[in-house]
Amino acid sequence: MTKSISISPGKVILFGEHFVVRGSKALVAAIDLYAKAEIEESSWPSEIISEGTEIRGKITADLKVIGSKELEPFAKILSVLKSWGFQLSGFKARISSEIPMSAGLGSSAASAAAFSLSYANMLGYKLNDKELFTLSNEAEKVTHGNPSGVDSAAVTYGGILIFKKDVGIISRLNTLFSDKYSLIIADSGIKRSTSVPVRDVLILSEKLWPALSLIYDAADKIIDLGNEAISNGDYETLGTLMNINQGLLNSIGVSSIELEEIIYRSRLAGAIGAKLTGAGRGGSVIILAPSNKIENIIDRVKCCVKWASRIKISQSGARLISS
Ligand code: MEV
Repeated sequence: MTKSISISPGKVILFGEHFVVRGSKALVAAIDLYAKAEIEESSWPSEIISEGTEIRGKITADLKVIGSKELEPFAKILSVLKSWGFQLSGFKARISSEIPMSAGLGSSAASAAAFSLSYANMLGYKLNDKELFTLSNEAEKVTHGNPSGVDSAAVTYGGILIFKKDVGIISRLNTLFSDKYSLIIADSGIKRSTSVPVRDVLILSEKLWPALSLIYDAADKIIDLGNEAISNGDYETLGTLMNINQGLLNSIGVSSIELEEIIYRSRLAGAIGAKLTGAGRGGSVIILAPSNKIENIIDRVKCCVKWASRIKISQSGARLISS
């Protein structure tokens, strides 16, 4: 039996998480950590196994999930494909991922994208990017309730993107990071849900909109300045903007003592910018640093993280690697 195999990059938000949910822009990059979905045709009920996790179970022909409720996003993908007129077939799927779960690095959007591509390919269909984005984002609605679409855009299209909810990709930045500067991810190891901080921030912004609208506007402006800084290769300004963005995220209640410790340690060790990335209150910190400071920074944060590592931008989004 032939297997369809697809991979999808994870993502890191450089600027604008949370603010993007209510209409500000976000600047996001796909990263070189990947989720993989291997799918082959089989009978119903279909079986899904997520390697290295407890997540496993079955999906019946009428799209009921048996076992882990974490499989609901995959059932949603099947139901959207059905609503598009596809005749569904039973399958066996194995999902594996280098992207840690609940760490702010887009693992759910990436698994959904890789699954969608492999499943559609098994049915003999090549999804286009718009369809792939829609399927990943529909799965994200099940996982998180109220996604802006930024994660699904990053994993679908790859590269560095400026994204706006309900508009999509505003621009793609072609500039690559110079060898002299690097991005480091430091994962606090504190697992958190995306939906709770997103809901809390929306409630806070409703309540205090006359003040918070100014913070949202500032976050939006940071994207324009960040875009300019990337285009000009002005890494000092880029780092400063990351630090300012962190201040804004702190002001809306999504930082934490553990994240601040990682952020301050990395700045003291030579980072020019450090901020939480993703939904916050746990998860990861993204650090911009001169490349000759990487080891020093990783050494200074190792007390307080599950792992920390240099990452690179993935210029490609999710793709089929074998059919
Ligand atoms: C999560 O990666 C980013 C948030 O802004 C939520 C979203 O945009 O869907 C926190």
